[in-house]
Amino acid sequence: MRTEESPPVRLADYRPPDWLVETVELDIALHPEATLVRASLLLRPNGIGGVPAPVVLDGEALALRSIKLDGATLPQEQYVTTANRLTISQPPQRPFRLEIETVINPSTNTQLQGLYRSGSTYCTQCEAEGFRRITYFPDRPDVMAIYTTRIEAEKAHAPVLLANGNLVARGDIDGGNRHFAIWHDPFPKPSYLFAMIGGKLACVEDHFQTMSGQDVTLRIYVEPGKEARCGHAMESLKRAMRWDETAFGREYDLDIFMIVAVSDFNMGAMENKGLNTFNDKYVLASPETATDADFDRIEAIVAHEYFHNWTGNRITCRDWFQLCLKEGLTVFRDQEFTADGRSRAVERISDVRALRAHQFDEDAGPLAHPVRPAQYHEINNFYTSTVYEKGAEVVRMLQVLLGPQKFRTGMDLYFARHDGQAATVEQFVQCFADVSGRDLSQFMLWYSQAGTPEVVATGSYDALRRSYRLELAQRVPPTPGQTSKQAMVIPLAVGLVRRDGGDLPLKLGDGRAADRGVLTLTEPHATLVFADVDQAPVLSLNRGFSAPIKLITNLSADDLRFLARCDGDLFNRWQAFHGLATRLLIDNVSTLRAGTAIAGEDSGLTDALAATLTLGGNEPAFVALMLTLPGEAEIAREIGQNVDPEAIFAARSALKMMLGNKLAAPLFDHYRRLSERIPYRPDPAGVGWRALRNACLDLLVATGKSDAIAIAVRQYQAADNMTDRIAALSTLTLCDVPERRAALDNFYDRYHGDPLIIDKWFTLQATIPEPATLDRIKELTAHPAFSFGNPNRVRALIHAFALGNQKEFNRPDGMGYGLVVETVLALDQKNPQLAARLLSALKSWRALEPGRRALAQEALRRVSAAPSLSPDVSDIVRRSLAED
Ligand code: BES
Ligand code: ZN
Repeated sequence: MRTEESPPVRLADYRPPDWLVETVELDIALHPEATLVRASLLLRPNGIGGVPAPVVLDGEALALRSIKLDGATLPQEQYVTTANRLTISQPPQRPFRLEIETVINPSTNTQLQGLYRSGSTYCTQCEAEGFRRITYFPDRPDVMAIYTTRIEAEKAHAPVLLANGNLVARGDIDGGNRHFAIWHDPFPKPSYLFAMIGGKLACVEDHFQTMSGQDVTLRIYVEPGKEARCGHAMESLKRAMRWDETAFGREYDLDIFMIVAVSDFNMGAMENKGLNTFNDKYVLASPETATDADFDRIEAIVAHEYFHNWTGNRITCRDWFQLCLKEGLTVFRDQEFTADGRSRAVERISDVRALRAHQFDEDAGPLAHPVRPAQYHEINNFYTSTVYEKGAEVVRMLQVLLGPQKFRTGMDLYFARHDGQAATVEQFVQCFADVSGRDLSQFMLWYSQAGTPEVVATGSYDALRRSYRLELAQRVPPTPGQTSKQAMVIPLAVGLVRRDGGDLPLKLGDGRAADRGVLTLTEPHATLVFADVDQAPVLSLNRGFSAPIKLITNLSADDLRFLARCDGDLFNRWQAFHGLATRLLIDNVSTLRAGTAIAGEDSGLTDALAATLTLGGNEPAFVALMLTLPGEAEIAREIGQNVDPEAIFAARSALKMMLGNKLAAPLFDHYRRLSERIPYRPDPAGVGWRALRNACLDLLVATGKSDAIAIAVRQYQAADNMTDRIAALSTLTLCDVPERRAALDNFYDRYHGDPLIIDKWFTLQATIPEPATLDRIKELTAHPAFSFGNPNRVRALIHAFALGNQKEFNRPDGMGYGLVVETVLALDQKNPQLAARLLSALKSWRALEPGRRALAQEALRRVSAAPSLSPDVSDIVRRSLAED
């Protein structure tokens, strides 16, 4: 057990920096084992403390060569270095120049933070605290400086040399064996946005003309030979640039915008100023190699990182507690971009599914924390679904509360008021208070109170008074460190739906109208009475998922079926169906666990689906979402305690089989009709057809019948695109049939040598719901295509197992947890960030039935007892096991 525990960093302890950095001149001589970094910093006292302050610089894994102050070597007795700091205790109290030479080793940097190598490419990742692994620096986001970067390298090893900003000079040295490039970024930025690249890379170039007529060069750098797979990322970038101009009035601000794809990357992508770095998985795509979902993800990530140029870079975060200020807001912006590009309802449903699957789960377990945490031990562990997805929901609620126009005015004010600054959440919200005249102090609870609020809504119709009474009650469950909560501001978009499907006008008893159909609950309880209601309506509440809450209503199964067919709000049409399916699945889980066989489905779910399939009128992508049952993890979360993942798997599979059997005729019919829509089309219509066709196939194959299996095999073989091929293969992998192995082997033969595609092959095998999977995964870790050193490989095999194979990860013998724990411990020495993320897959352990719960706890304790854990892993394990 680790005994010493460093104190947490606390928001309440924030103090402005004593020293600011005006300019940074970096001179980096690349070398595989000994890269020389010369940093020249112009430091200036911040002049707020009054008392002379020491200069304290962060530094990690650096070998200090020399240090000079205003040109003179600093005598050894005037500074102290420790494992993570350099302190000059009595610096002159005036601006001065500090020149520091350090040597770093990019080849042994397996953490992938700071300067490291991906293959032969030199690359950097500085967010959140990686810059201190390049040079000594006040590595905190409220120190914003202007950077000039000179890179030099052997030409043959690194013909391409890139850094932030605009290229100002380049040339040969050493008779042409070596060369250099100098980049200057005129915008002040925090150190986490620094980036440089050196390597043998090919590039694809395009141009964009901004709204004020500036020409911007766009470049995507990839491994030579992959240029043909950059088209989608480039088109996505141009769409994102145009959208930010029209939707938010934001224009790009440098001469050049670059994206570099690297194969070894801890995250998805990173928004470094003018030089975004990407996991190549989120750049490279062609119809033959990537699925429609991959294409969508690439577009969203390219847009997300581009949007950070304003929300994150031009306006950055004062400290890491404000992370949601850039991440939540930018996720909101990328969601809106996607919604504008295709169906808003389909985007909203997908976003809410993801929110419920990840964020609600996090909020319900030991790792729950507010959108703006009050303290942290390791900031890397706070790039969470709560900060990102719930952070985006909080911005969305501001939009719902203020209405789209006022919201836009508030955003304009934010950009105007805080450009060039390191801002806080308070300053952001103040902009919306100022433009609307609203008091948003209670709204701030969304940033400080963790936990998913529960709202109980009880509606009743009074025919005599022609009124509809709606009682609302809210409660926020306790979370670690927060036992009692205050009432939140909950915007609820509402509709009272007539029998003909239309909405009744919303007139409140006191004569007020609900503003844009939105009711705002601010008290623990409220009663609203709607007047002039001339027929019994069906309540449609939290339309469009206007607030990220758990809603409990007194709607009957009949009401839900009605809403599933008629609600004018497409989100709630889907939600009604989803609610019906969830109720039924939970009932069936109880039935199974009581040892009784599941009775035939009589909740009307089949009828509702049949109606959706046959009536038409809904777009295919939407119907595909209707056909997809709630996931196992989501059912588990709804059940909440004493969870048996095996029973959940059984109930869900049984329901799929039942639906596949009962709806066989319309499913086959749809499948065949949609199969005529060939050839492949990459556009939204084509995406929708494929989604629906593959959702039909999935239910048909769930019956296990040979005609359905044969169709899947045929689709696998005949597919002219990855979406259809993978859809057929993944539905086949759920069935224990001989065709499965043959298809998996065929897939490997077709695509070996293409690591991003082989990742799909790893994932498919990791998610097979059978006991043999565990041993198969162990064998696959020895496969030549696998490597623990590459995060994409580890995620494709091990994370996919822990997160996507609920049944086998939660094996009753605990060996699934064992595999994850062993991987975490082995990985922690190399890449703590990745290890910590994997370990958080165990976060829902307390909700499990007693047997598995004890085994999962035991597994966590094994981690906790291991010697020399990284701060990343020890933080996750400590919070996971904490009792409170
Ligand atoms: N700034 C982050 C990347 C990052 C995350 C750096 C954690 C350091 C630590 C970037 O903007 C981001 O959020 N990337 C996401 C994808 C995005 C579409 C949500 C990612 O990498 O997963
Ligand atoms: Zn981001």
